[in-house]
Amino acid sequence: MAWDPNLYLIFEKYRRQPAIDLLAHINLERPKVVFDLGCGPGNVTALLSERWPSANITGVDSSSEMLTKAAEIYPGIAWSKQDISEFAATDVDLIFSNAAFNWVPNHARLIASLARFLGEAGILAIQMPRNYEQPSHAQIVDCIESRPSRHHLRQFVDFTHVQPPAFYHDVLAPLVRNVEIWETNYFHVLQGDDPVLEWVMGTALRPVVNALSGSEKRDFVEEMRQRYRDAYPRGPDGTTLFAMQRLFVVAQR
Ligand SMILES: C[S@@+](CC[C@H](N)C(=O)[O-])C[C@H]1O[C@@H](n2cnc3c(N)ncnc32)[C@H](O)[C@@H]1O
Repeated sequence: MAWDPNLYLIFEKYRRQPAIDLLAHINLERPKVVFDLGCGPGNVTALLSERWPSANITGVDSSSEMLTKAAEIYPGIAWSKQDISEFAATDVDLIFSNAAFNWVPNHARLIASLARFLGEAGILAIQMPRNYEQPSHAQIVDCIESRPSRHHLRQFVDFTHVQPPAFYHDVLAPLVRNVEIWETNYFHVLQGDDPVLEWVMGTALRPVVNALSGSEKRDFVEEMRQRYRDAYPRGPDGTTLFAMQRLFVVAQR
């Protein structure tokens, strides 16, 4: 799908925090070879580069829009256009991924092959949103199912890729010496009239909205606006509390 880096970066401060939390769990002194899979506009890759300035770091993404933005802001980092499902390497010290694997299918195959790309004591560190049952995602599915064009629109949402924690443990345990898994529910305090709509328009809702045009697009967005206003009412101080559950996996070879 076509990404809009500027729309995505509106909530950069909130989207970056889980990456900082993931980074804090990586116990590597001086990794030499590092990949950031699904690097997006590169702001999180830049955090890796700040922490390990002498490492050979490559940001990998399938979106030209995101990579162009990344290269514009961080010309000193290497950027590579590639699908995560086709990524291959050997003797990697760190494979990092923040908020990207939720777009990639077949995690059993993906996670096992990434673990095999790690060198001795190499680390695989992943953060994935796991909000499928929350209104942010469930309302998209409901809205699609209420429309005559649902048969066409269904192909643009796939909220099935991210699996429960035990799944990642079971895939990784035979391949690595140590697996650490945890979940955090972030309660973001957002400003503005329709902050949840704005947030989701930059990610999960984007493929559906991009597939629509004219009055159908306007109606769909208006319906989602109302659904999010009902599901996430503004508090007495005018802010909106937006819960975002995220799953973290850190495995060391
Ligand atoms: C929500 S953004 C996360 C960006 C960045 N990691 C961050 O934390 O800000 C998801 C990124 O994953 C990329 N992506 C999604 N599916 C991908 C795939 N199959 N291969 C490579 N990149 C993919 C998208 O292009 C997008 O830039």
